[in-house]
Amino acid sequence: MKIVTSSTELAYGCAFVPTMGALHQGHASLFKLAREKSDFVVASIFVNPLQFEDQEELTKYPKTPDRDIDLAKESGVTHLWLPTYEEIYPAGFAKRSAGALGDLYEGASRSGHFDGVVTVVARLFQLVRPKTAIFGEKDFQQLTLIRKLITELKSDIEIVAAPTIREADGLAMSSRNVRLDEKAREQAQVLYSALNAAADSPDLSAAQAALTTVAKSAAGFTLDYAEIIDEKDFSKAIDATANKRAIIAGWLNGVRLIDNMEMKLGAVR
Ligand code: PAF
Repeated sequence: MKIVTSSTELAYGCAFVPTMGALHQGHASLFKLAREKSDFVVASIFVNPLQFEDQEELTKYPKTPDRDIDLAKESGVTHLWLPTYEEIYPAGFAKRSAGALGDLYEGASRSGHFDGVVTVVARLFQLVRPKTAIFGEKDFQQLTLIRKLITELKSDIEIVAAPTIREADGLAMSSRNVRLDEKAREQAQVLYSALNAAADSPDLSAAQAALTTVAKSAAGFTLDYAEIIDEKDFSKAIDATANKRAIIAGWLNGVRLIDNMEMKLGAVR
């Protein structure tokens, strides 16, 4: 694996996995998927200040550089790119807007977050020029906005959604999980329990009720939102909605956790 700091040393037409580091098995699964798509796998590690509204969150973002290098190498990354701030954001760079969808749910709680995400991803794509880019389904709103970005850019980059990788108790893997203390870590399975309770429901209204009831049942979990949405535009799902998804977010121990699950209500799981 080659470690590079300038995008001029990258292989164009690669499969690309953008990250902010603090890599875990969830990222490893994205790298492996990328490797199935191409012999050239570029992973970037860039903690993008633009997507943090709160400077303290940015400072607290976990950094594990040595482990990141080992995990990337073991998981099939051929080029690990550690860009400088100046390369990503040259003087006078243009910020992008994520539009109205960027203001809902995650965007409502983290003002400007998705503007920062689409700005950095557009710039990363411009520098890497990948054939394929892989994003985790765990950040479903982000994934939806990246697909929208591709349409706006009239780009032919193939966006691949990678399934969420979970701990044994169902907690979705996230770089933030290391900040949970022992008790909060145990309580964190409430998100997955709430999603499953919704998915096991016979219809939409029962699913919405189960999602909210379970989400509110765990001591210490401050619920932000728990909703069943239309995947297309994140409006509230109605019975006729073709693709429904439950989304949930909240805080445990001051750590923000999010998760989501496709809802095939009434189908045998
Ligand atoms: O999901 C992430 O890690 C980040 O939002 C991304 C896509 C790397 C952009 O900074």
